[in-house]
Amino acid sequence: MDFPRHLLGIDGLGRGQIEAVLAVAARIKRARAAARGGDDAQAAQARAELDRLRAALAGKLVVTLFFEASTRTRSSFEAAARALGADVIAFQKEGSSVSKGETLADTVRNLEAVGADAIVLRHPAAGAARVAARAVRASVINAGDGAHEHPTQALLDALSLREKLGALEGKTVAIIGDIAHSRVARSNIFCLSQLGVRVRVAGPRTLLPMGIEQLGCQVLHSREQALDGADAVMALRIQQERIGDARLPSTKDYSLRWRIDSGATQRMAPGAVVLHPGPVNRGVEISSEVLDGPRSLVMDQVDSGVAVRMAVLSLTLRANLPAPGREGKP
Ligand code: NCD
Repeated sequence: MDFPRHLLGIDGLGRGQIEAVLAVAARIKRARAAARGGDDAQAAQARAELDRLRAALAGKLVVTLFFEASTRTRSSFEAAARALGADVIAFQKEGSSVSKGETLADTVRNLEAVGADAIVLRHPAAGAARVAARAVRASVINAGDGAHEHPTQALLDALSLREKLGALEGKTVAIIGDIAHSRVARSNIFCLSQLGVRVRVAGPRTLLPMGIEQLGCQVLHSREQALDGADAVMALRIQQERIGDARLPSTKDYSLRWRIDSGATQRMAPGAVVLHPGPVNRGVEISSEVLDGPRSLVMDQVDSGVAVRMAVLSLTLRANLPAPGREGKP
């Protein structure tokens, strides 16, 4: 299985490539969990395995270049790179020469000249990761480009969903909220469709992009319809920073009609789960009761994130990880 040098989006990846990331990531996630809390023998074995992994990117330099705010994604990529033994340099907009007028292509060329093997880029413009990838030979990993794609988020969501629900083929996942401005929604529609999931999207009409159904999802116009019998729901924040001053709809109206709360989740399938990519506006798109409740996979998503990013870094940099499927065997 060939994996691309850059990860710019889920669109364009085949199912085999998605499965490859998920298989490596699942294995890494299990090892990390066992190292934290398994019985002594298991923990020792898992630690040895993680120690072996730690050499995978020895001598490689990973640069995180973030032109937008981030808590989870950036720390998760940096933790992932370090866990594989890479050196990490972190750049933010404020600290880079882009504020002095340098183009993105020139910035990444310079980072490559400094020695970067991988550049993890978050940028407000859709297509920025592609621009960067054209400029360098180093691997470019898209950590979110405008409202376009956020591929590692979709992959980590798929990992958490699969671990909780089993095979995803034929399952129904509802994505509710600001679909129009959400790269998370787009990447998830591509990823979940490839895995055989029926994807529903729903939200206020002003936040549903025209023609979204052409990506292979069903568009619904109420929270109730979207949740009816669904196996999972992903609540999305209103991306106010991409909308500007037009507060459509008001926060109060929005939460009344679209919030995922315990009443709303009762329509879902038994055992249904709730996801949110963060950052969460508690009480607006999701109630605290649901966010902190037994259906919530939100903290597990963060845990999946480190494992998925370790898998993506190693696959794009062609690091030699042991083949998946041999866990537990000597
Ligand atoms: C998301 C993003 O940046 O697209 N956050 C994240 O990476 N976990 C979602 C958001 O900002 O609402």
